[in-house]
Amino acid sequence: MNKTIAPSHNLAISGERLWDALMETAKIGATPKGGINRLTLTDLDRQVRDWFKTQAEKLGCTVAVDDMGAIYARRRGQRDVPPIALGSHLDTQPTGGKFDGTLGTLAALEVLRTLEAAGYETYAPIEIINWTNEEGSRFAPACIASGVFGGMFERDWAYAQTDRTGETFGKALEQIGYRGPERCGARKFSAFFELHIEQGPILEREGFEIGVVKGAQGVRWFDVSLTGRDAHAGTTPMVARRDALVGAARVVEAIDKIARAHPPDAVATVGVIEAISNSRNVVPGEAYFSIDLRHPSNDTLDVLENEIRAAIAGVVAEQKLDAKITKIWEQAPTPFNPRCIEAVRKAATLCGYSHRDISSGALHDAVYVARVAPAGMIFVPCKDGISHNEEEFSSQEQCAKGAQVLLQAVLDFDRQLAEGTARS
Ligand code: HGY
Ligand code: MN
Ligand code: MN
Repeated sequence: MNKTIAPSHNLAISGERLWDALMETAKIGATPKGGINRLTLTDLDRQVRDWFKTQAEKLGCTVAVDDMGAIYARRRGQRDVPPIALGSHLDTQPTGGKFDGTLGTLAALEVLRTLEAAGYETYAPIEIINWTNEEGSRFAPACIASGVFGGMFERDWAYAQTDRTGETFGKALEQIGYRGPERCGARKFSAFFELHIEQGPILEREGFEIGVVKGAQGVRWFDVSLTGRDAHAGTTPMVARRDALVGAARVVEAIDKIARAHPPDAVATVGVIEAISNSRNVVPGEAYFSIDLRHPSNDTLDVLENEIRAAIAGVVAEQKLDAKITKIWEQAPTPFNPRCIEAVRKAATLCGYSHRDISSGALHDAVYVARVAPAGMIFVPCKDGISHNEEEFSSQEQCAKGAQVLLQAVLDFDRQLAEGTARS
């Protein structure tokens, strides 16, 4: 029987080698509290990219970089068909953990290392990917490279996005030397699989080892600027003030109430807030804040957005302020591909791991890749469901189980391609 489609049930990733890779790369941007601060397109991001590229080249992969800085490392297969892709992201939040994104990218590397060590030849090429700026912390929006890849954003619009210092994405990409020649979106995949920590409490609370991800909820991001009048903190009577930060504080409170009024799924967050004058004895005449709004239903997102806009209008009238609300990102709820979901479910069953279907509260690169290729995701539990936090943790065993399911899901899809049964 052709060995490429022989059952690969005896192939096993090395949990130890994966853990060593996680701990080694965690040193790049390590924070005193045990997390990682490795913002996209910084020199720390360059360092971990260089590491990833070197490891892939050592495996004999052909490595390419596209004009959004996404890194593709391809292992040949028997046939020159579009590769089965797998990966995630190596950039982190400023107070990020060791596993968000890094687990999926290094588990993809571990899958290749396992295939190479076993001399297992797949039918399709297997391609691992590191996506640029998944976090959206330094440059908004999140998933900007996979978003260009999926046709959601234009490359030049992405290049013009600026961080809070005014630096553009395009310039920062050039500076770290990762603006590649290939047009982002030019290459095709037979499928894309992403392993990720759940970043929520469900799998741990219910005692499941694997999450079979059905899709991701919708997300909308807004930038809001409120304008009143800068004034002297000592000489300006309270009745004469147009305090933009007080206005922002009232809106933050209102946004929290609006989300709580739509249980159990509505979530809304103000993660960035600034008094532009930023001086202790100036009444802030200008305030900026961000809004991150999410829900599994687009109709409910519309309701939530309208309630938030109405709340801002009310505060602005009461405080005699002006408001500028800019919706900078909108991603509808996205279902993953049924064949990829089934490949993940079959892989979890084959591995003998307990599993349940789950939806993603977070957005992931797989959501944008799903616009142009069959995509699916695998979740593993993380301690107390904590993420975007330096204490983020998944055990070596949990990471290994996720990587083993990733290996088997990829090989299941490879068998489908070999047997000509995989349809997109
Ligand atoms: O915001 C998100 O959902 C992802 O972690 N970037
Ligand atoms: Mn992530
Ligand atoms: Mn994240």
